[in-house]
Amino acid sequence: MTYAAITGWGKCLPPAVLTNDDLSTFLDTSDEWIVSRTGMRERRVSHVPAIEMSVVAASQALACAGLEGKDVDLIIYGSCSNDEGVPNSASGVQIALGATHAAAMDVNTACTSFCYGLATATAMIRSGMVKNAVVIGVELISRFLDWSNRNVAVLFGDGAAAVVLQASETEEGLIGTALGCDAEARETLRVRGLGLCYANSDVRFGDTLWDFDGQVIFKRAVHAMTEASKRVLLECGKTPDQIDLVVPHQANLRIIESVAKYSGIPMERVMVTVHKYGNMSAATVPVALVEALEEGRVTPGGYILMPAFGGGLTYCSLLVKWGDRVTPLGTSSRILPPCTETALQMVNAVRAVHDAHGSSHAGLMAPEFVETALAL
Ligand code: UT7
Repeated sequence: MTYAAITGWGKCLPPAVLTNDDLSTFLDTSDEWIVSRTGMRERRVSHVPAIEMSVVAASQALACAGLEGKDVDLIIYGSCSNDEGVPNSASGVQIALGATHAAAMDVNTACTSFCYGLATATAMIRSGMVKNAVVIGVELISRFLDWSNRNVAVLFGDGAAAVVLQASETEEGLIGTALGCDAEARETLRVRGLGLCYANSDVRFGDTLWDFDGQVIFKRAVHAMTEASKRVLLECGKTPDQIDLVVPHQANLRIIESVAKYSGIPMERVMVTVHKYGNMSAATVPVALVEALEEGRVTPGGYILMPAFGGGLTYCSLLVKWGDRVTPLGTSSRILPPCTETALQMVNAVRAVHDAHGSSHAGLMAPEFVETALAL
């Protein structure tokens, strides 16, 4: 039987830090509110496009696995914030890595994109279609976030991470997968303005209006991640006490605590990064995994549970059996160019462009074509 071992891992966090106090310079919010309701203290703002973050993360992951770009058969780019629609983003990573023999595809299931990508790449390796794959989770949300809306502006951050998968005859890697989608609630999380049904209307690209029913998403997220976790454990014949580490999607500390509680796993065995990076959507699970490895929290042969949810509302829980190696074989010298601005300066620049053009939010609601698309 063929498995898909995780043999490389790497991350890229842009250096500019946006604190809760920075946010309260232009929003009616406070450090106290954000920390108590979400657990978030700061997040990153990227000065480079998402592909550039991805290339740094993927280069690290390849060096960690002892591979080069030419060894890669498949690149999966998990994200909902692609730099461009066409060409796809995975092709931009392919050329930068020199992965000339690789298939390159984008996966967008919002915050679960990395996990769906991991499941897809694992299935392709296990079927014998490919041998070596790079799976990326990346998001650059700061460029299209509605910074005037405190319901969403305090929650999100930018970042990237990647893993390398390799065909193996040993039982390791992703061994159980529960994927699903709670589409009845798909209208509870919608970014108006982010999509081609708005093309050639009076909406300026990047000018978004977020439909975001936080409380409904919260409840459905806890339910879906808990049920998916129970399902994958049952299918794999495992019990909560056999799980060494939970690496969950990081949308809110209270969501993470609830999922841990209802899944019967104590918080000591849960990886938390939400205080440092906020919700980086598709990047949260792989960044948390990389940091768990860096902190020595992943043990050889250990079982790792990865529950996640996102727009759609897509959800999943993945069960990974780690292999023998928990340290990198090598390191990459590829880093981001220096950042010359503060995070607050970059955010204020986005806000200034928005203000200079005047809001086109009205166009996000009105055109008949858009309404037809959104009614689906
Ligand atoms: O990855 C998928 C993305 N989605 C999510 O992660 C969403 C999950 N939902 C959540 O994490 C939480 O529902 C939120 C963090 C979004 C909101 O927390 P909450 O405890 O559900 O707050 P709430 O929406 O019930 O709002 C409570 C109060 C309201 O004021 P009133 O009506 O009680 O006077 C809000 O207007 O807090 C107010 N509020 C804020 N106050 C200060 C909402 N946002 C803020 C803010 N700063 N940023």
